[in-house]
Amino acid sequence: MNTFTCIAFGIIVFIVVVKILNVVTKGRCTSKAKLNGKTVLITGASGGIGKETAIDMAARGARVILGCRNLKFAEDTKQEIISKTGNTNIVIYQIDFESLTSVRKFSKLIHENESRLDVLINNAGAMGLGNKITEDGLHIMMQVNHFGPFLLTNLLLDLLKKSAPSRIVTVSSLGHIFSSLDPDNLNKPGLDELNYFNSKLCNILMSNELARKLEGTNVTSNCLHPGIVHTEIMQHLPWYKRLSLSFSYWFFFKNAKEGAETTIHCAVCEKVDGISGKYFQDCKDYWTLPIASNKELSEKVWNKSMELVKLQKNEIHY
Ligand SMILES: NC(=O)c1ccc[n+]([C@@H]2O[C@H](COP(=O)([O-])OP(=O)(O)OC[C@H]3O[C@@H](n4cnc5c(N)ncnc54)[C@H](OP(=O)(O)O)[C@@H]3O)[C@@H](O)[C@H]2O)c1
Repeated sequence: MNTFTCIAFGIIVFIVVVKILNVVTKGRCTSKAKLNGKTVLITGASGGIGKETAIDMAARGARVILGCRNLKFAEDTKQEIISKTGNTNIVIYQIDFESLTSVRKFSKLIHENESRLDVLINNAGAMGLGNKITEDGLHIMMQVNHFGPFLLTNLLLDLLKKSAPSRIVTVSSLGHIFSSLDPDNLNKPGLDELNYFNSKLCNILMSNELARKLEGTNVTSNCLHPGIVHTEIMQHLPWYKRLSLSFSYWFFFKNAKEGAETTIHCAVCEKVDGISGKYFQDCKDYWTLPIASNKELSEKVWNKSMELVKLQKNEIHY
């Protein structure tokens, strides 16, 4: 065998081994838990991981609230859920995380129309939004991925506490390990990828801080990395970045249904009963960098976020 053949053979073996490992280690939620009488709210439910999560929740009998920006996509998703599961107890409320006014309106609608909330799934997220500043004076990527969900979660805590035992599940990303968050300037402009990673670190910090603040309330808070999942998440990236990322997607990817498994596990599995403040991957409790579980940092980011989203004292329910 010449050198070229050896290298080519090595690469093929490597790819096959990685692909096999990828298939073998994909987590599956094995819980058969039923959710009749329970209400589950999923943000960003119109596509990708959120849609697959919503289908699963509906199949388990829950009342499913689709928190979506695009009402046309949401209506299509609702019809798909009904035709796949036979569950017609599906409602749509509009929310756009680019506007905190929209988040507040959404929360008001939920309070006016819903008597309970058993599971809140903070799933909506975006990549590649640039460094625009929103109408609320916040960095767009931080607002869509962190400040918006932070405000929403806080505004819904009273309902979650009333419905306890209840769960908050936040979809973060392994990408947080590449973050370079400046807690003194959460709106700092930067490279798109860094902005995304920073916002995903904030998801974990929020989830951990919530778990501490909600101790003893029977409301749990966990977060997760769904895997590298083939969805629309890259739609705002320039073509050359989409192309290079497509390779890793092909190499490691899960489809959206597989990508939803860890969210579903955190939302329903009996093994997660009473578990709070953890980070999951492939339906297992997983490691994060020490920075992601740094209490001082999470407190700081929490307090700054409260100030920036203008959360009032009478709106705090922990
Ligand atoms: N895919 C991956 O490899 C991967 C890896 C790690 C973490 N994640 C996380 O997984 C979550 C779901 O992403 P996905 O992969 O399923 O991507 P996706 O297919 O792009 O779905 C994202 C969802 O979020 C919604 N959304 C985006 N911006 C919004 C806004 N301003 N207001 C309200 N909703 C908004 C989208 O609604 P529209 O249809 O209106 O845009 C869509 O329903 C995200 O939090 C993402 O960060 C994904």
